[in-house]
Amino acid sequence: MSKKYSSDVLIIGGGLAGLSTALRLADQMKVAIISKGPLTESASLYAQGGIAAVLDQEDSFSTHIEDTLNAGGGICNPEVVESVIKRGPQNIQWLIEQGVLFTRESGEDGYGCYHLTREGGHSRRRVIHAKDATGKAVEMTLGEKVKHHKNITVFEDHIVVDLITSAKLGQTGNQCRGAYILERSSGKVHSFAARCVVLATGGANKVYLYTTNPDVSTGDGIAMAWRAGCRVANMEFIQFHPTCLYHPKAKTFLMTEAIRGEGGKLRLPDGSSFMEQFDSRAELAPRDVVARAIDHEMKCLGIDHVLLDISHKPANFIRAHFPNIYARCLEYGYDMTKDAVPVVPAAHYTCGGVMTDINGRTDIDGLYAIGETACTGLHGANRLASNSLLECLVFSESASKDILEKLPTYILSKHLPDWDESRVTNSDEEVVVSHNWDELRRFMWDYVGIVRTNKRLERAKSRVDLLQREIDDYYGNFRVTNDLLELRNLAQVADMIIRCAMQRHESRGLHYTLDYPETMDNYTPDTILIPDNYSPDTAISA
Ligand code: FAD
Ligand code: SIN
Repeated sequence: MSKKYSSDVLIIGGGLAGLSTALRLADQMKVAIISKGPLTESASLYAQGGIAAVLDQEDSFSTHIEDTLNAGGGICNPEVVESVIKRGPQNIQWLIEQGVLFTRESGEDGYGCYHLTREGGHSRRRVIHAKDATGKAVEMTLGEKVKHHKNITVFEDHIVVDLITSAKLGQTGNQCRGAYILERSSGKVHSFAARCVVLATGGANKVYLYTTNPDVSTGDGIAMAWRAGCRVANMEFIQFHPTCLYHPKAKTFLMTEAIRGEGGKLRLPDGSSFMEQFDSRAELAPRDVVARAIDHEMKCLGIDHVLLDISHKPANFIRAHFPNIYARCLEYGYDMTKDAVPVVPAAHYTCGGVMTDINGRTDIDGLYAIGETACTGLHGANRLASNSLLECLVFSESASKDILEKLPTYILSKHLPDWDESRVTNSDEEVVVSHNWDELRRFMWDYVGIVRTNKRLERAKSRVDLLQREIDDYYGNFRVTNDLLELRNLAQVADMIIRCAMQRHESRGLHYTLDYPETMDNYTPDTILIPDNYSPDTAISA
């Protein structure tokens, strides 16, 4: 039997964006959180390096702002950058008040004594962290609080199928009314009515064959918002992390940039270092520069990986700073205190996404997007390391305030229609889904990866068009499953990445194409995609 649920606020996602928004709202209203798997299974859980914020007296807002703008390749929204960075310290304080234990300098105590690490593109040490497992510390602490809060109901193992809007219900205007959710264990689709909905669904990096991201990162929020009528921007800017462990058994294991921040060197198989030839900041150049340099060396020399080497540092230092990574590498036969570790770049972060304003509002009334699923203007053409957890926190703060203020004006729909299954049957060809998943991820890696060309993008576009037709046909005939929903969303997002990449006739930040290798002056800043059902009446002015 299909069920009907309701809540004041429906938050989709249990990463840092979703959990922090829930905790900020729950004393004043009923909140429901939905997550595909266990509550905390998310990219946030696997964050290693930390959270960037100005916490040291030697540091300043202006340098953090400058570093963010420099990394962003000239197209960040400066007002957003300033606002986010200035609210960094208070948001770190909020996390500390929630009970997150960040690493301290040994033997000292007090607010000023947290250890701050360094990452690429940062001109100062400003990344607060919990050893090399910051995301776990944050997610475990907030996740426990969420689970025990009397006003929060958690729906684990449910995947949101699509948003329900007044337009879809044939009513006037374009307000968000809730969502359809698939209970993964029973295969039933239930309706969920809410006064407002927060998309905190993370990024879309599973669209690539090699990624640092967990399986949940399939761009669902971006695809759902698009289908509902929201504009999506800057999808060409996919960040490839330079150093993912290269080992056949390590599905996705990141080697944090903080290793380079603490002196780690990138080397070729003969032991020589190479980053100096690409950028004066060498290993601490922004990620796009480092990832492209590695890609270049791998292609020129025909090698499968490069090496990350921190073995020149004292063994105690390595074990104390990177205990989890050290242990994980040992499992695969590499002792970081003695060996250089094989690494390759992998898709890591989606800079583009659902367009929002400074409060996380989207083009649909009562629909918010925060965290990696959103395009807020903070990252521009390239995200500065450790600015994304910061963005999750700051936007959860501003969206919560906005929701508190606007909630009385948002309507709770009492009678949402049931999910219609009258014209579908059970699939008899699941292989179509698994085959298309593999095909999509492979051609995105080969044709829409670190280095692009017009020809490769055209090839990718014709393949994604074909896949989308096949998926739509399948979707129209068979009952929805988790894998089908994710595939449909991935294909939609892949299409948006390719279309944005095709529109940008220059190289900028993370988008690099051999056909237009230069960065143009005065080029259109954002690549904006507008859906057919976009309604300017409710649109934000971002
Ligand atoms: P996520 O944390 O990805 O959460 C998404 C949630 O949405 C999940 O709970 C998922 O189940 C749910 N969801 C998605 N779709 C649906 C659906 N259809 N129905 C129901 N639920 C859904 N950033 C930093 O700033 N510092 C770091 O040190 C850092 N390290 C990183 C290390 C790794 C390995 C990775 C992968 C990323 C790292 N990042 C880091 C990036 C950062 O972790 C992410 O950008 C950030 O955590 C995104 O948070 P989020 O809340 O937006 O999404
Ligand atoms: C890392 O620890 O290298 C990841 C940091 C980030 O993605 O911001």
